[in-house]
Amino acid sequence: MSYDKAKETADFIRSKYDNQIDVAVVLGSGLGGFADRVENAVKIPYEEVPHFKRSTVEGHAGQLVLGEVGGVSIAVQQGRFHFYEGYKISKVIFPVRVFGLLGVKSLILTNAAGSVDTDFKQGTLMLIRDHLNMMGINPLRGENDERFGPRFPDMTEVYALDYQDIAMAVAREVAVERAQSEAAKTGKPAAPQPLLRRGVYCGLSGPSYETPSEIRMFRLLGADAVGMSTVPEAIAARHMGIKVLGISCITNLAAGISDESINHDEVMETGARVAGVFQELLSKIIPRLG
Ligand code: HPA
Repeated sequence: MSYDKAKETADFIRSKYDNQIDVAVVLGSGLGGFADRVENAVKIPYEEVPHFKRSTVEGHAGQLVLGEVGGVSIAVQQGRFHFYEGYKISKVIFPVRVFGLLGVKSLILTNAAGSVDTDFKQGTLMLIRDHLNMMGINPLRGENDERFGPRFPDMTEVYALDYQDIAMAVAREVAVERAQSEAAKTGKPAAPQPLLRRGVYCGLSGPSYETPSEIRMFRLLGADAVGMSTVPEAIAARHMGIKVLGISCITNLAAGISDESINHDEVMETGARVAGVFQELLSKIIPRLG
């Protein structure tokens, strides 16, 4: 049934936008501004998309944006469905199923996350090298539909290594350009600042933030950042053979790393602060995913 629903939604999207979509992008909390970079945009509010839910979270616009970035046809999910909102996990991954049926080859998952790695600062962008699924659920649980993928999909390389290399190369180029324009402005040499750091994303169900003890535990387990999304979508994408790139925006230090408490406003503010560089990286990565 889920396959038929996804097919119906894919057909609906094709009826509104008939270019072959190669890349899909899911924008996390506070990162929705990237949708404004889409050219010749066709915007469809989730209310109008068959079988889509409304996004209930502040900072998630709740629309699909179809159009082009750097000459590539893309679909942007401006606002995602989170498990903590109470949706069934099949609803959380439903858009990914639809992207797969539309023939999307590459999925870029972005999110807001708290830093577990004490070297990360507010505003650090983390390239996801791998994840820990601590959500207490797997989106593939239940009867398997072979039309989506195999019963026991491999998860050795959820986040494609070649995509990671592309993202790091783009980040280095942008860093050099920024340093050069800074030097031209000030007349003093400026060293390129690293714009992307690799790390492991730990997915939790939320919606409460973690306790300091939990953060210490996740650090011991190998996490660099914690968040409440991305993992189910990444698993569903790999199930369908879609290649995945993941970027976390570190919006806050995780619980107990500083004395500050964590709140959603801070998450949104940091997203807005890094919007420029985040959007520039995405715009330059997309045409290279090929
Ligand atoms: N924990 C979990 N999810 C988050 C955080 C956090 O600290 N920040 C943004 N999303």
